[in-house]
Amino acid sequence: LKDAARRTDAELDRRLGTTPREGETTRPARLLEAMRYAVLGPGKRLRPFLLIESAALFAADGPEAVRAAAALECIHAYSLVHDDLPAMDDDDLRRGRPTLHRAYDEATAILAGDALLTIAFDIAADASPALVAPLARAAGIGGMAGGQMLDLAAEGRRLDEAETVTLQAMKTGALFRFAAEAGAILGNAPPAERQRMIDFGRAFGRAFQLADDLIDATGDAAAAGKATAKDAARGKATLVALHGIAGARVMLAEMVDEAVALLAPFGPRAAVLAEATRFVAVREG
Ligand code: IPE
Ligand code: IPE
Ligand code: MG
Ligand code: MG
Ligand code: MG
Repeated sequence: LKDAARRTDAELDRRLGTTPREGETTRPARLLEAMRYAVLGPGKRLRPFLLIESAALFAADGPEAVRAAAALECIHAYSLVHDDLPAMDDDDLRRGRPTLHRAYDEATAILAGDALLTIAFDIAADASPALVAPLARAAGIGGMAGGQMLDLAAEGRRLDEAETVTLQAMKTGALFRFAAEAGAILGNAPPAERQRMIDFGRAFGRAFQLADDLIDATGDAAAAGKATAKDAARGKATLVALHGIAGARVMLAEMVDEAVALLAPFGPRAAVLAEATRFVAVREG
């Protein structure tokens, strides 16, 4: 994780410099600082790690994979900035620090999100043009942003299991699926292996969000770096709401096994990815 984070952060630091790139005019200092606060802060960099490790399975974990990882982390960071806004989850704490709109202001947070989303495609195009459309679809109406819409619309309504699974596959699963698939795309993997990585990314994302929901229900804010015990209060549609904590724990263990099983054909080459999948289930933040 540390190594992937170091490589990704170096790329992000380079991309988020003060000098305008060709076609740009200036880079307003306050907006740039806000973007750097959001994306270079102390997160786990799990999506970059997953992308780079997936690319490594296909001997493609070079600079293109790091660029793709940086692009994906920009989208993730933007999604958190907007997720925390008063109009959405209304949170004050993120990664153990004030949320962006608290540290700056709401308008700056909205614009920092906009600019992180767009710079992601600048970086992705440099990684590989083949990644641009899959990234757009993972982030957009039929992926993360669409899932966030369903998440908000579901507040206070009881969704059934299938609806909850779909919502989570979109808001969280889509970016993890992209991380795993991007490795296969960069490595020109055969279609069956690309499909296997898609399935793995999806399964990983499902486990990840359930673990996040369990952290909200049972964890503490100090370890999580963000407020907990909020989902139930807001009436969020989660599998914890449907199955209770004990039931959700059983489901999480099954999801982790399912994701790890998908890696079996890759043999020991996928040992690190399998470890990461297990880590997701036991993490506290
Ligand atoms: C939090 O993601 C948002 C969810 C999809 C649950 P992470 O837990 O990966 O957040 P950081 O990047 O480590 O802060
Ligand atoms: C966030 O889900 C998913 C995103 C696309 C950002 P949550 O709302 O559960 O994430 P946290 O708990 O605030 O990190
Ligand atoms: Mg949310
Ligand atoms: Mg939230
Ligand atoms: Mg959460």
